[in-house]
Amino acid sequence: MGKCKMKQYDIKTFTELNSTNLYAMVNIANLCDRDIIVAEKQISGYGRFKRAWLSEKSNNLYMSIVLKPEVEDFSVLPLANLTQYLSVALCKTIESFGIESCIKWPNDVLVNGKKIAGILCQTSINGNNLNGIVLGIGVNLNLEQDDLDKIDQPATAMNIELGTSVDYEKFTRMLLDEFFVRYNEFMACGFEMIKSEYISRCSFIGEMIQVKNLDKTLRGIADGIDEAGALLLKCDKSKETIMIGDVLL
Ligand code: BTN
Repeated sequence: MGKCKMKQYDIKTFTELNSTNLYAMVNIANLCDRDIIVAEKQISGYGRFKRAWLSEKSNNLYMSIVLKPEVEDFSVLPLANLTQYLSVALCKTIESFGIESCIKWPNDVLVNGKKIAGILCQTSINGNNLNGIVLGIGVNLNLEQDDLDKIDQPATAMNIELGTSVDYEKFTRMLLDEFFVRYNEFMACGFEMIKSEYISRCSFIGEMIQVKNLDKTLRGIADGIDEAGALLLKCDKSKETIMIGDVLL
């Protein structure tokens, strides 16, 4: 693992990148723990399941957090829950603007039932060695309704909800401060540390939902979130514990 400076975080801003996640993954060896890659625009931003992420408008947040935890055995780290930790940090940041937010398992943040942000975690692993983690996030801060209408699911933006534009640099720092204030504790404790904050913001619990799980779509009642952050789904004839998937809106 590369050397780690004692710092809160270090933001590197680019006018334009293909994708902040791609840049961070390709350059992982030369990046440090807590380096933050921000692009004013992305040419080909991407999300989970290789979906495109609308990124041509500036004054929105397109960012990747580079993490290089120093541990002998990275299997002890709560890597599968990092996106959930970031989703809670984002909800708190949004809520500090007086806007209510909730989480659609596993890590989509919604406002008024519409998606306002997406999170994508990638890891660079070489055998038993963790080169680094790239935690990407896109937040709709300032978009026109016309832009939002182009998105393939109900979407909103902070400016639409607030009725005024949001300073993207200020928002970025607020979110990063919220993320890093408990980051070390989270890496040591895992999902348990955020369980109640996460669940209290979870939408769809107790409701009939559809979950795209790898190659199949399951239908059932969202029965809760377990100790590991997995979604519990009560189907007609079975109870499923889902670690990877997407709740369909
Ligand atoms: C999703 O909802 O599917 C996740 C979207 C993640 C988008 C962000 S924008 C910054 C970073 N760079 C990318 O190419 N993707 C992530």
